[in-house]
Amino acid sequence: MIGVFSVAALTLLLGGVLALVFPIFWYLFAKQHVQPSNIPNGSMGWPFLGETLGYLRPHKSTSMGTFLEKHCSRYGKVFKSHLFGSPTIVSCDHELNTFILQNEGKLFQSSYPKPVLDILGKLSIMLVSGDLHRKLRSIAVSFISVSRTKPDFLHYVEKLSTSLMESWKAHQEVSFYKEAKKFTLYVMLKYVLDIEPEDPLAPKILEDFLTFMKGFVSIPVYVPGTPYAKAVKARARLSFTLKEIIKEREKREVGHVKGDFLDEIMQKGNLSDEERVSVALDILLAGYETTSGLLGLVVYFIAQSPSVLQQLKEEHQALRRRKKDGEPLSLEDFKEMEFTSNVISESLRCGNLVKFVHRKALQDVEFKEFLIPAGWKVLPILSSPHLDPSLHNNPSQFDPSRWADSDQAISKKVSPFGGGLRLCPGTDLAKVETALFLHHLVLNYRWKTKVDESPISCPYLDFNRDLLLKIEPIENRS
Ligand code: HEM
Repeated sequence: MIGVFSVAALTLLLGGVLALVFPIFWYLFAKQHVQPSNIPNGSMGWPFLGETLGYLRPHKSTSMGTFLEKHCSRYGKVFKSHLFGSPTIVSCDHELNTFILQNEGKLFQSSYPKPVLDILGKLSIMLVSGDLHRKLRSIAVSFISVSRTKPDFLHYVEKLSTSLMESWKAHQEVSFYKEAKKFTLYVMLKYVLDIEPEDPLAPKILEDFLTFMKGFVSIPVYVPGTPYAKAVKARARLSFTLKEIIKEREKREVGHVKGDFLDEIMQKGNLSDEERVSVALDILLAGYETTSGLLGLVVYFIAQSPSVLQQLKEEHQALRRRKKDGEPLSLEDFKEMEFTSNVISESLRCGNLVKFVHRKALQDVEFKEFLIPAGWKVLPILSSPHLDPSLHNNPSQFDPSRWADSDQAISKKVSPFGGGLRLCPGTDLAKVETALFLHHLVLNYRWKTKVDESPISCPYLDFNRDLLLKIEPIENRS
């Protein structure tokens, strides 16, 4: 009796499972057979996971990584796949990338995976579209473009750079990437919230942002202790801290303004508190995480290239000779740092700080011989044209002189800052900050990388052992 019952129960159970699983398999596989033939070639990988694990496998950021190399040689620069839970078109083609970025809001729209959405919050500039995007972006753009030209911003960047380097004097080694993160976050904290490094809130905010980043590439299941759950909690803490600061400021007497970004957005009547918190977090995160990556890349590439270091030193020594002792650097000085600017651009090309961005097709899009179906995800790989031998001679060689060309033809073949309506508003701010920091670094320190500290794409940028440097102060710096 028990046996008959078990067989019946098992049959029922199997039937139930099949009834559940069959439609999913049909959706994933049968549907592919009726896809139009001009969808790019490719593979949809495993059910559910698709090819996501292979796509996300860490690799040197100075290369495309095995996944993209193999897929491009098998299917071409544009191929289909199944990534982050959706059918996807991956583009390693510069022309298609430009087309996608330039058609934001018309044919394509920003579309980030769930963990990014949960962690950044649904009001993040990176995630919103249409009128709300225009409103939040214009606030960010106007603040960033004014700050980077202000003498007191430049002085603060210099002051923080020199005090950080002063703190290295007692050490022979520094974990440079950690130091760079501290430096760039403290610059942003001063300008967004008027918080100085000595404030007890500063290291807490840094800690929360570090937790934040680890959650971006994680499985979005809220299990306590996972990187995703920790990142969501860190976001909630940051949001709470900002709301408390806003409340305090609302109690202030009229006229007692600090003039930082928070004051500026508090004066804007058309923003809700949630929008204020979100835009302030966006600027803090985007402003610190990427600029510290850029600093890491520049320092890494210079360590491999003594002739570049020598040329940089000469540029900064010449600049110093034109200034009085201790005189702060100005925006004009920055504009004269031509070689430094080429080193920064070449580091972005070779090091690939942002590997790709997330989009989806709003309608069926025909591009050359291909069809991108409506609703599919689209991933323009920004790093791919940077390393493409049909666009750059000897692309894997770090060579700042390729940027010396006065018509800057090369800048049309790279897009480290994205493009179109979502072109990064922080481009110049990141460059000024990096150039001023480098000024003091090349004049005051020699450095070597300890072991293989190549930049890694995880897919966000990271360094093995936080870019451990062996450092030595330069005693006589004439
Ligand atoms: C080397 C440094 C930087 C790199 C490589 C970089 C790269 C990028 C890229 C590729 C995007 C486009 C994202 C997309 O299309 O989905 C972007 C957007 C953005 N970046 Fe940057 N960024 C850098 C520095 C900064 C800084 C310093 C700030 C602010 C202070 C900033 C603020 C933003 C914001 C607010 C957006 C969103 C723009 C929008 O969606 O309209 N970035 N960045």
